[in-house]
Amino acid sequence: MASRNLARTLLRSIAPAARSALAKPAFALRVASSIRPAAFSPMQTRGIKTMDFGGTKETVYERSDMPLPKLQAYFKNDTLSVLGYGPQGRGQALNLRDNGINVIVGVRKDGRSWKKAISEGWVPGKTLFSIEEAADKGTYLLNLLSDAAQRDLWKTLSPYVTAGKTLYFSHGFAITYKDQTGVIPPKDVDVILCAPKGSGSTLRSLFVNGKGLNSSIAVFQDVTGKAKEKAIALGIAIGSGYLYETTFQKEVFSDLFGERGILMGAIYGMFRAQYDVLRENGHSPSEAFNETVEEATQSLIPLIGENGMDWMYANCSVTAQRGALDWHQKFYDAAMPVYKDLYKSVVTGAEVKRALDKNSQPDYRESLEVELKEISDSEIWRSGKTVRSLRPENVESDK
Ligand SMILES: NC(=O)c1ccc[n+]([C@@H]2O[C@H](COP(=O)([O-])OP(=O)(O)OC[C@H]3O[C@@H](n4cnc5c(N)ncnc54)[C@H](OP(=O)(O)O)[C@@H]3O)[C@@H](O)[C@H]2O)c1
Repeated sequence: MASRNLARTLLRSIAPAARSALAKPAFALRVASSIRPAAFSPMQTRGIKTMDFGGTKETVYERSDMPLPKLQAYFKNDTLSVLGYGPQGRGQALNLRDNGINVIVGVRKDGRSWKKAISEGWVPGKTLFSIEEAADKGTYLLNLLSDAAQRDLWKTLSPYVTAGKTLYFSHGFAITYKDQTGVIPPKDVDVILCAPKGSGSTLRSLFVNGKGLNSSIAVFQDVTGKAKEKAIALGIAIGSGYLYETTFQKEVFSDLFGERGILMGAIYGMFRAQYDVLRENGHSPSEAFNETVEEATQSLIPLIGENGMDWMYANCSVTAQRGALDWHQKFYDAAMPVYKDLYKSVVTGAEVKRALDKNSQPDYRESLEVELKEISDSEIWRSGKTVRSLRPENVESDK
């Protein structure tokens, strides 16, 4: 009831732009099937600036700091070797290529990534090589292997990390948890990071559509005095929208914390708890799913993304507003000890140890499949499939 009122009030009060966004499928970001290098011109105005984030001043870097010709000139004598062609390797390599930067890809021969890279125009012997060959040719080594492979292949890769080269990561993982990964770069290379705040396919699709994902940048080792400048240039070259500064350690702590928290772990825990209480109290699966996931993802979360939670609280029905104001503190109090435990587990390295140990087990793929199947077989997500199939746009596309 409260949410029906809420939805009604919202539809009345929201701006036309938000209403039209509501009419579209949420997060409808298309991954481009083709690329348009010649026509592509993602660079736009605005420059380095200090912004006020709720009272704290931070420096941010935007695309206009590195217009395309400047970017191309910056890297004109370089070969950027993207090692790995998973979501990040693929997204970053394609964006670099579209930006006219000299980029090659290095992956293990005949693996899934090798085949995918060939299908997207990378040519063996010209722009596609083994990891060792690409590492040998590159002046910038973009280590975008999986985090486990960064540990496993460090001994293979490190002979190619030679004086004057720049070593780049998109996660502070390997460097911060060096006791577990063994990744200790030589002292004569710059070591930088640019971590897109989203998946590689989002990085790609936003770039193709003239937009940009936000990324954080950091410097671990600055031999040339230009490490930060390189991180900014590379951050823009891979297609980021704007860049904010962090450290390798803060990047990995916040990333591991966030994905275990609200982004994946906490949100699923909360979905499940709410759905199960509704089901235990006799609500149908369609009602439980609609009140829990569908309304959140289709209506409220896009609005929160667009306008903020403060706006959301100010623009809902009085009934919903009173309830949310009264209950959010209880959820905060319940979540706080869990979040504190989680942060500790990240900082001590326990999370990383578990991830690496699990990943190293020979039967991990099989046991993972079992865990994932349990989720997809659960009632909530089976209900979700039916609910999604009933969205008008899906019904129409079936015809
Ligand atoms: N995914 C994200 O949303 C995201 C966001 C920001 C930052 N990052 C960071 O970006 C980096 C890359 O992430 P990702 O998600 O793109 O990685 P991923 O999909 O897990 O793996 C990327 C590559 O690693 C290769 N690989 C894995 N094991 C290997 C092995 N034993 N030997 C040789 N190659 C191996 C894979 O090649 P094959 O196909 O041959 O197996 C693939 O090309 C990581 O540091 C990650 O933390 C990821």
